[in-house]
Amino acid sequence: MEKRNIAIHYFVFRSIDELADADRSLLEKAEEASRNAYTPYSGFSVGAAVLLDNEEIITANNQENASYPQGLCAERTALFYAMAQHPNRKVKAIAVYGYHRKHKLKGCVSPCGGCRQVMLECEQRGKEKMRILLSGYSGEITVIEGVEQLLPLQFSGDFLCDIQ
Ligand code: THU
Repeated sequence: MEKRNIAIHYFVFRSIDELADADRSLLEKAEEASRNAYTPYSGFSVGAAVLLDNEEIITANNQENASYPQGLCAERTALFYAMAQHPNRKVKAIAVYGYHRKHKLKGCVSPCGGCRQVMLECEQRGKEKMRILLSGYSGEITVIEGVEQLLPLQFSGDFLCDIQ
């Protein structure tokens, strides 16, 4: 038996002002999108902004449902819509902003496992690392270069077939 370790790497910026203009504006779009989230059940509103390789930005937010599992996270709503409209574009980056109606979020919003898996698929379709920007009430921004850092030991289509 052998113990193996995995280290993940990410960058933390103290405020949005420390970011490059393009990152800042993507995060602002995510924040804007979070205001249109439909979250009567959780009160937790999330916005996502997806940057494509033609510089187009697609935004979306979480959409909840009285039948809870039928709702969808902001990240997946945005990525699925982006890929549905632009199947041949690469996703260069995704920015995510979240806030709770009643409580202050301590750190940055962190994508759920399902969204990480969908991010991975988008990254593999684009064959380029996706940049992931996470933010929240606290003002701190987490920047992650590539889905591998969010989802180590990942399950991918490679296990199923040869995707080109
Ligand atoms: N949610 C997102 O949209 N993105 C995340 O990264 C975390 C969670 C949503 C799902 C649900 O509508 C609400 O937040 C509470 O889980």
